[in-house]
Amino acid sequence: MAPALWPRLGRILWLACLLPLAPARVAAGVYELHLTTDGPATTGAEVTITASLVADDNGSLVLPASARLYRFRWIHTPLLLTGKTDEAFSSTVRVVGNVPGDFPVSVWVTAADCGTCQPVARSLLVLPITEFLVGNLVVTQNTSLPWPSSYLTKTVLKVSFLLHDPSNFFKTASFLYSWDFGDGTQMVTKDATVYYNYSIVGSFTVKVKVVAEWEQVTPDVGKGVLQKTGDFSASLKLQETLRGIQVLGPTLIQTFQKMIVTLNFLGSPPLNVCWRLKPECLPLGEGECHPVSVGSAAYNLTHIFRDPGDYCFSIQAENIISKTHQYHKIQVWPSSIQPAVFAFPCATLITMMLAFIMYMTLRNAAHQKDMVEVADFDFSPMSDKNPEPPTGVRCCCQITWTDGRRPPAAQRAATDHKERGSRLTEDALLPECLAGVRVNVTDPEPDDGSRSGAGLLQGSAYIFLPGWCPIQ
Ligand SMILES: *[C@@H]1O[C@H](CO)[C@@H](O)[C@H](O)[C@H]1NC(C)=O
Ligand SMILES: *[C@@H]1O[C@H](CO)[C@@H](O)[C@H](O)[C@H]1NC(C)=O
Ligand SMILES: *[C@@H]1O[C@H](CO)[C@@H](O)[C@H](O)[C@H]1NC(C)=O
Ligand SMILES: *[C@@H]1O[C@H](CO)[C@@H](O)[C@H](O)[C@H]1NC(C)=O
Repeated sequence: MAPALWPRLGRILWLACLLPLAPARVAAGVYELHLTTDGPATTGAEVTITASLVADDNGSLVLPASARLYRFRWIHTPLLLTGKTDEAFSSTVRVVGNVPGDFPVSVWVTAADCGTCQPVARSLLVLPITEFLVGNLVVTQNTSLPWPSSYLTKTVLKVSFLLHDPSNFFKTASFLYSWDFGDGTQMVTKDATVYYNYSIVGSFTVKVKVVAEWEQVTPDVGKGVLQKTGDFSASLKLQETLRGIQVLGPTLIQTFQKMIVTLNFLGSPPLNVCWRLKPECLPLGEGECHPVSVGSAAYNLTHIFRDPGDYCFSIQAENIISKTHQYHKIQVWPSSIQPAVFAFPCATLITMMLAFIMYMTLRNAAHQKDMVEVADFDFSPMSDKNPEPPTGVRCCCQITWTDGRRPPAAQRAATDHKERGSRLTEDALLPECLAGVRVNVTDPEPDDGSRSGAGLLQGSAYIFLPGWCPIQ
């Protein structure tokens, strides 16, 4: 008998020691033990842990008729037990941790009269104990944005520190809060709640350092001031309503030319943008535009027009907070008469007209000169009709009459053959003559016909004009 008992007893002891620390599933039976706690807690504060016995399949099995049949057994060391309450199907313990750390607490339920019997249910939790304050930062705003941690700029934000102190450990403490909103604003308050208004968009981390101070009288040390601190933070994404769309782009473009219109959104992305191109500017109706998802504050819209005409871009954007729209008119020219190209033929035409006018002016002048020359050549049988100074001619002066009379043949000879001893020495007048100066010369002597072939009319005025004479 005895040899058979010892292994059995050993197994029971082994189970009694190890089972509470083993995973709950190992001993899954008809009952379950649910553990709840109000932890985590700061060192010195009391933590309440409750274990409740429930039916395994959530209530379809009835619990034992008499709770007295079962006992709750706890292992909580090194946490100090400060209280214990047993109820019908639950047991509650209050423990205090004096050093920080993560402490396992296990509980199991056995038959009331058999502490070493196999447990009907058991469970385990890990209780975190910290030397700092326990709590969290809660940010709220009177808006509901669809993204987590998203709030509106220029709208009051309520930031509160909620101390987690279920045991009322800090009932006599006074608190001081040092806030940092991450945008350069800092403040210190005695109130756990502040109201703040972000003016710019972006991601910010709001931080608060909480200091709790209280007096404590301990028998050994006496009266002293104790302090605990805690650092808390929350990440915020500040968005803003969509106030408008700035459209930057050409208002005049050529067909088949790539057009880029830059849309700058005055508001926070993400945005749902929808655009439509029509000859007239009309508000966008549902489902009749090109939808685009835009993740930044700017977007480039590109389009190539195939047909010339007047167009209007109707652009609508919404960032869930708000919605806005904008229009952008654009004139499309056919490629051939696009303004820049049109300017070229225009300039060419003007140039051509100017050139023509100049040509006509010059031609008229040349023509007049031709006429003179022709007249010259009329009484100069040896000259040819070419108005240009060809080779074989020299610059000389020729004589014409102021009264427009045609020179008689004798005079023609005199003017044509100046080199042969004409009385009028044109060479003396050559510089003026060449300069195009008209020189009036009146023959001082009456024509007596003695001069060789001269025969100039007495009292007539002669005009010397530059011209071309053949070299002889
Ligand atoms: C048990 O019931 C509770 C509430 O009635 C429910 O929240 C839970 O999900 C149920 N559990 C199971 C395992 O059905
Ligand atoms: C919050 O918004 C509601 C309506 O959206 C408004 O009636 C209320 O006054 C607002 N409260 C604050 C504190 O702004
Ligand atoms: C928030 O600040 C903006 C300016 O930055 C101001 O226009 C707005 O009225 C403020 N809102 C509140 C509720 O104080
Ligand atoms: C839009 O195009 C311009 C040049 O046309 C460029 O500088 C800019 O970076 C583009 N923006 C985006 C958002 O693509």
